[in-house]
Amino acid sequence: MTEGDRVLTVEGVHAYYGNSHILHGVDLDLDEGEVVTLLGRNGAGKTTTMRSIVGVVPPREGTVTYRGQQISGMDVDDISDLGIKLVPEDRRVFPTLSVQENLSLAKRLAPESDRTVDEMYDIFPVLAELKSSNGQNLSGGEQQMLSVARALVQDPDVLLLDEPTEGLAPVIVDDLREVLRDVVEQNVTVLLTEQNVQFAFDLAERGYIIDKGEIVFDGDIEEIEEREDLLEDYLSVSSGELE
Ligand SMILES: Nc1ncnc2c1ncn2[C@@H]1O[C@H](COP(=O)(O)OP(=O)(O)OP(=O)(O)O)[C@@H](O)[C@H]1O
Ligand SMILES: [Mg+2]
Repeated sequence: MTEGDRVLTVEGVHAYYGNSHILHGVDLDLDEGEVVTLLGRNGAGKTTTMRSIVGVVPPREGTVTYRGQQISGMDVDDISDLGIKLVPEDRRVFPTLSVQENLSLAKRLAPESDRTVDEMYDIFPVLAELKSSNGQNLSGGEQQMLSVARALVQDPDVLLLDEPTEGLAPVIVDDLREVLRDVVEQNVTVLLTEQNVQFAFDLAERGYIIDKGEIVFDGDIEEIEEREDLLEDYLSVSSGELE
């Protein structure tokens, strides 16, 4: 691997909410075009890791480096402008704006993006049918599609997807998997957190396991799938439950 392949490096990151010490020296890296998953139980620190990367919860110790530039300590908006986009757990679709307005607004906030709103309707046909529906009238699955589309229309270089399947019906999860398979074929590097371990295994090539704010394992998905101890201790699944 040449040095140019490294897109993002998280090194020794410690993060806090007030006095609560949540991340204890997280190390993680993403190479060009990879889909990497960050797995772990409820409260393990997955969301906090993503918030540290995008500057919402700035690291108190350690660094985050994006293509050779230190971004830890930078403003949230400046990090976003570099092309690092978080699709948050709670989706945050604008409830009183239509699908079209949600997408146009996102597009306007990233004027340098070559992606168009119409392209998003090609990728997410369900959104094309809902153009004039308000965000608040969409189902959970539709809001999730919109949330991903909003990030995608900004032509992200790095896409952080925080539990995209949370609260979705199984049939919608299948749709989302198909859409994300297309998305990851495009020119984007992805970090994905999931409670739905199978979903993460279907999409990612490599994974990290976090527990109590520390990375306890990293390796290829094939290896995690075979490690009954990791599955049981940190992911609360057994290999029998996986496909
Ligand atoms: N805003 C907050 N203020 C204080 N503590 C928080 C806050 N958000 C999260 N925490 C705590 O930080 C720890 C890590 O939470 P985090 O949200 O990063 O976990 P997670 O791995 O994303 O979990 P989940 O799978 O439930 O989304 C937990 O103990 C949680 O209670
Ligand atoms: Mg979370």
